Amino acid sequence: MKTYRIAAIPADGIGPEVINAGLEVLDAVARRTGQFDFDVTSFDWGSDYYKTHGQMMPADGLDQLKPFDAIFFGAVGAPDVPDHITLWGLRLPICQGFDQYANIRPTRVLPGIKSPLRNVDHDDLDWMIIRENSEGEYSGSGGRVHEGYPNEVATEISVFTRSGVTRIMRYAFAMAASRPRKLLTVVTKSNAQRHGMVMWDDIAAEVATEYPDVTWDKMLVDAMTVRMTLDPQSLDTIVATNLHADILSDLAGALAGSIGVAPTANIDPEGRFPSMFEPIHGSAFDITGKGIANPVATFWTAALMLDHLGQDQAAKMVMTAIEQVCAKGILTPDVGGKATTRDVTDAVIGAINGFNDGA
Ligand code: IPM
Ligand code: MG
Repeated sequence: MKTYRIAAIPADGIGPEVINAGLEVLDAVARRTGQFDFDVTSFDWGSDYYKTHGQMMPADGLDQLKPFDAIFFGAVGAPDVPDHITLWGLRLPICQGFDQYANIRPTRVLPGIKSPLRNVDHDDLDWMIIRENSEGEYSGSGGRVHEGYPNEVATEISVFTRSGVTRIMRYAFAMAASRPRKLLTVVTKSNAQRHGMVMWDDIAAEVATEYPDVTWDKMLVDAMTVRMTLDPQSLDTIVATNLHADILSDLAGALAGSIGVAPTANIDPEGRFPSMFEPIHGSAFDITGKGIANPVATFWTAALMLDHLGQDQAAKMVMTAIEQVCAKGILTPDVGGKATTRDVTDAVIGAINGFNDGA
């Protein structure tokens, strides 16, 4: 029996509620298949840890995480700690320190969940957004001088490297090639940003020659919001910079019904470090402790983690269970239902337990 070592970092807000639910589902699917199990270690890092220790995680945090097979992450963000501290203190050091350069964000309208778009059904919106996750606008390069004086200057520099852009383009073209439609849209803003984004376009065209079976096109990011809204069927795999994909993936989540169902994976495709799996929705303090957080994003995230670990049959079971439960209308309030986190979790575990062998 294979045992996977999982580092759980539930962190802030609804993070602990959804991560606990996710761990229950992972446990259920492991028991159902009988082929693997999990050895989970939980870390109490996050905003509360920051309030006591003055840092979001210990200085040797990455060393502690390195031996794990994967990281299962909840959410960061607290009303009384500045967002740039929570982000740059925990999640970004993990993404960047472990060179998790490919952030993948699958988006679909799940059965039973309604898209706010007219005439968009379950099968009409099936996207795979690939977010560059190691540089670009999130490079952290820049600074402030003459702080507080009228002549204060702040710079926020986007950094694009040939190696960084080439590797994310290869990842995106390969992802597109692995999906039935073999269709990739490269998002850009090279009309206005005439250095980094022009290199981005050049490299996309170069990498495209390595993938002759992929049909690709290029969209300016502003026009992309229109196409996602008015012609969602025309899109399949999408690659964009760190910031562009951050924005487009929130739009994608909303168009698919709720960011409460949107999963993500921060992947080191070379497997040198553990990859990190998290729901997109964030800490959601308005509903923390109410027991109504939508656990579906975390279950879908768990499926991505199972896939990454090579347990694709178990991943499929989790996805099928989610789809069955959503189709039955067992939904939390963010997607129009009355169910609690507990109800949805029990229903998904029930569905997993009910599968026949080979489901
Ligand atoms: C995301 C989130 C983060 C980001 C926030 C929490 C800083 O919005 O994963 O999309 O911008 O990267
Ligand atoms: Mg975001």
